[in-house]
Amino acid sequence: MLDIQNLTKSYGQFLAVNNLNLHIDKGEIFGFVGPNGAGKTTTMKIVCGLLAASGGSVMVDGVDALNNPDEIKRKVGYVPDFFGVYDNLKVMEYMEFFGSMYGMKKADVDSISEGLLELVNLSDKKDVFVDTLSRGMKQRLCVARALIHNPELLVLDEPNSGLDPRARFEMKEVLKNLGSMGKTIIISSHILPELSEMCTSIGIMERGQLVTSGHVDDVMNSGNGGMKLHIRLADYGSGEDDVSDGKTYDREELQRTLSEQPNVRKVQCTEDEVLVSFGGDETAAAALLKSLILKGYAVSGFYKEKEDLETLFLELTGNHGGDNE
Ligand SMILES: Nc1ncnc2c1ncn2[C@@H]1O[C@H](COP(=O)(O)OP(=O)(O)OP(=O)(O)O)[C@@H](O)[C@H]1O
Ligand SMILES: [Mg+2]
Repeated sequence: MLDIQNLTKSYGQFLAVNNLNLHIDKGEIFGFVGPNGAGKTTTMKIVCGLLAASGGSVMVDGVDALNNPDEIKRKVGYVPDFFGVYDNLKVMEYMEFFGSMYGMKKADVDSISEGLLELVNLSDKKDVFVDTLSRGMKQRLCVARALIHNPELLVLDEPNSGLDPRARFEMKEVLKNLGSMGKTIIISSHILPELSEMCTSIGIMERGQLVTSGHVDDVMNSGNGGMKLHIRLADYGSGEDDVSDGKTYDREELQRTLSEQPNVRKVQCTEDEVLVSFGGDETAAAALLKSLILKGYAVSGFYKEKEDLETLFLELTGNHGGDNE
């Protein structure tokens, strides 16, 4: 759906996007992450045909975005990181205004808008002045108007910033719905736990370049920490040194045995479970589970902790403080 090759953008001497390569398949919800000034907004605007690139190529659904800005605007819906000011415009008039920019007939805009306002849960606000909506409602209205011409690709720049937890949850539901309708979505955000929950793939950008990108699980497992396994044992026992009831393992011995297994980096016995930092993949984790069972351990729980995007982000972008300058 989206294919970016060797994209560069300089503002004067300053290189904001530096030889960026990125591929996003149709139907993906792609999370775009990076410190302030990394070049996310710049990249998104170029993809939407709103900003000229300095070099490289951007193809959206087979259309060359850099040389066909008008055609690209029909394929893409853009939700900018600011809402703008719309004096004396009611919600439905706002939708009509944007529909007319795509040359749509008022009757078509009205019927499509009904559905879109329902999708973003604003049906009861049709006749309300846009400026009186709350921030969360404005963000959702912005999503509705970006969809008015039924674009293939929806690009959202920080749609969750400044929203309360309920509004963020509602926005997440709207985007998930759109994803299940087969839309391709690019979303930038600094709220990382939400992004990793919602997205199918993710890219981390820093200083105009992509540090890593791919499917969420693959990106998460690419960090230095490897995966963290939580192991529960039915007869783990309750006290650290309490072996008198015959039910409790000698934790030192347990730790030693586990440490000797392949790919095990670190073992930590907590109050009620064992935590293992594990350097292997899913197959290796299955082999570890099998060997524990064969050794006679009563394994009652064995699961992989969902990696934390925030930790990975800090790991990968930690070398240079905040802004790009
Ligand atoms: N119009 C402009 N003129 C000059 N420099 C610009 C312009 N727009 C952006 N830049 C610079 O380009 C770099 C990338 O900015 P951009 O807005 O793309 O970053 P971002 O990743 O979206 O950051 P944030 O997370 O803060 O939104 C920054 O250093 C910024 O100062
Ligand atoms: Mg930005």
